[in-house]
Amino acid sequence: MTEAPMPTSASASFHIRPARTEDLPGMARVHVETWKTTYRGIVPDERLDQMTVAWDLERGFGKWAVAPPPGVCSFVALSGPKDIVGFAVGEPNREPDEEFPAELVAIYVLRGYQGRGIGRALVGEVAGFHYAQGREAMLVWVLAANPYRRFYGRLGGRVVRERTAPVAGVPLAEVGFGWSDLRPLLSLRVPPSTDRRRA
Ligand SMILES: CC(C)(COP(=O)(O)OP(=O)(O)OC[C@H]1O[C@@H](n2cnc3c(N)ncnc32)[C@H](O)[C@@H]1OP(=O)(O)O)[C@@H](O)C(=O)NCCC(=O)NCCS
Repeated sequence: MTEAPMPTSASASFHIRPARTEDLPGMARVHVETWKTTYRGIVPDERLDQMTVAWDLERGFGKWAVAPPPGVCSFVALSGPKDIVGFAVGEPNREPDEEFPAELVAIYVLRGYQGRGIGRALVGEVAGFHYAQGREAMLVWVLAANPYRRFYGRLGGRVVRERTAPVAGVPLAEVGFGWSDLRPLLSLRVPPSTDRRRA
């Protein structure tokens, strides 16, 4: 299992905005790199070794995210005008679930930018989107062996579901963290300012 780096209180200038079509390669880069830095020892090596940005894009990575259908949202975090360092995607829960109608489907921040509040701000944006659409409780599935799962606990999520699901062709244990009230998460959004702009 990969060791998660200790989060720091360091802050850095970043901003968050909805994803656009031209963001796709940058989002794929974040996806590929964070899989490799996070899932070594958890997901089979063959899968991690074959992952490249081109491979990801050929398989259709992110198409749904940059042209989101109704009810779906995707946000990118940028450290400069074009430097995508993280992203998050939200959808109505993909499984029927009366208790948690919203889902945080994906959230990834490049390792070199972790621990600076970007993940927290991305969760806030996805929660804000769902809440505005009338979905008041949210679930996220995380691999049980993922050391980053504690991130969701820090943000008030609690383990409410367990399952085994195929990941890269292998059945792996997952836990579902849930927030039954999204309102506390809304304040995690980064307000517009000169330092942390929204485009
Ligand atoms: C998990 C992830 C999205 C969090 O984003 P981040 O920008 O690093 O997190 P933040 O800096 O916003 O941290 C928010 C809070 O969570 C805590 N936290 C972050 N990572 C943590 C970890 N690995 N263990 C414990 N707490 C953690 C932070 O300390 C902070 O709490 P605090 O302000 O009370 O100190 C990011 O680290 C990541 O992409 N990890 C690898 C990929 C992954 O596992 N994605 C999730 C798949 S389900």
